[in-house]
Amino acid sequence: MKQNNKPVIVAISGSLRSNSSNNTVIQLAAELLKEKAEVIIYNGLGQLPHFDDSKEPNEAVTAFRKILKESDGVLICSPEYAFGVPGSLKNALDWTVSSGELVYKPLALITAATGGDKAHAALLNTFTALSTNVTEDTSLLISYIRSKMNAEGMIIDTTTIVSIKNVTNALLELIKTVE
Ligand SMILES: Cc1cc2nc3c(=O)[nH]c(=O)nc-3n(C[C@H](O)[C@H](O)[C@H](O)COP(=O)(O)O)c2cc1C
Repeated sequence: MKQNNKPVIVAISGSLRSNSSNNTVIQLAAELLKEKAEVIIYNGLGQLPHFDDSKEPNEAVTAFRKILKESDGVLICSPEYAFGVPGSLKNALDWTVSSGELVYKPLALITAATGGDKAHAALLNTFTALSTNVTEDTSLLISYIRSKMNAEGMIIDTTTIVSIKNVTNALLELIKTVE
């Protein structure tokens, strides 16, 4: 918790693409949260080494674990690639298994993809394995994400915007319950 009493939320996009629709979802969620939370957007997924716990964790892994540990909540927005979770996101999550930064952590998951149901289900399973604190209200599947954006890449679909707002509010409420 920051000194200004705002919870710290780390937002992670599962996409490394420069024109990522999930980055857009994160930007919108951060905008919706900014009055009530300190949002830190973590952009380091691409710098994490492939998971291998027979070696000492390097600086990138240590920094990633620290930012998660010091947060009050986590927001993950992810696409689905080839019917699965993007490898870079799964790799990052694997780095937290033994160190436990996500155990009981209030977490929101938004999967934004063309379909996305398989990655969404797989991520929820992984969050169960990690013992994160994720609820029905803090998880959202947005299918056909591109059709909900305009040519400039902004989310313009009102129902989608309201759903994202509901998830961010539910995450704030969940954080309050564990304070
Ligand atoms: C390599 C690749 C594989 C994809 N495979 C799937 C898929 O299996 N299921 C799906 O729903 N969407 C799939 N998509 C579509 C993406 O989920 C969709 O384009 C999404 O907006 C990408 O998110 P991003 O822009 O944040 O990277 C794929 C896209 C790419 C680039």
